[in-house]
Amino acid sequence: MQTVMALVDGAERIAVLTGAGVSAESGVPTFRGEDGLWKNHRAEELAHPETFSREPHLVWEFYNWRRSLLSKCKPNRAHHALAALEAHASSMLLMTQNVDGLHHMAGSHNVIEMHGNIWRVKCTRCTYLAEDYSELPELPKCPSCGDLLRPDVVWFGEQLEPGTLHSCVEAAAHADIFMTVGTSGIVQPAASLADLAKRHGAVTVEINLDPTPNSGLVDFSLQGKAADILDKLIP
Ligand code: OAD
Repeated sequence: MQTVMALVDGAERIAVLTGAGVSAESGVPTFRGEDGLWKNHRAEELAHPETFSREPHLVWEFYNWRRSLLSKCKPNRAHHALAALEAHASSMLLMTQNVDGLHHMAGSHNVIEMHGNIWRVKCTRCTYLAEDYSELPELPKCPSCGDLLRPDVVWFGEQLEPGTLHSCVEAAAHADIFMTVGTSGIVQPAASLADLAKRHGAVTVEINLDPTPNSGLVDFSLQGKAADILDKLIP
């Protein structure tokens, strides 16, 4: 912990990748933990364009449930510690796989939401795209063309925005220190960023409750709750 603290303190360029575990202590269920299944459906099934075209009611029910749950959640000490780190660092990019918006709410500014944001909706036909924090109907319709809306999130089998991926790769390739926090490290392309950073000379640190496929590959693997560890790491 002391060594990592000194490395974080001395780093010029910091890159951080977060996943569902960073929001767990805010009460947001992770995707692959014990509470990972929703009505016996896996995330890979629900967050999928084919499921949406076959069963839009089911997919919207899942997202409306998550939106309702998230509307009561607040950032936790892990989000706040990362916002404090950005304020103190000379350069820091926070890449998150989370769509909950909690990093922004905690005060982080330089954030890339790799998988989109659950509080935005977009039309399945026209170019309509809007932030919407209201309680949505079972099947929300586009106010512009009347077709079906969907959450503005990246689903399995869909590509990240090319600009998004490019920025993440650049940040990983130029980081002095690359930290992953609260991610199982199995969903690509996010899962490869730590390895990419390491190959380009970054010190790599993983903070996670459980061991992951990345644990043996990173320079430092700190096991525990993100909030507890980040609180100590970023005083
Ligand atoms: P996962 O649910 O796969 O993994 C969460 C990780 O956080 C696990 O390794 C847990 O051990 C760890 N964890 C849980 N509580 C923690 C805590 N308090 N502190 C630290 N770690 C904790 O979530 P992601 O890795 O984010 O994609 O999943 C990646 C993507 O898969 C998601 O963005 C989502 C999902 O399906 C899409 O929806 C496209």
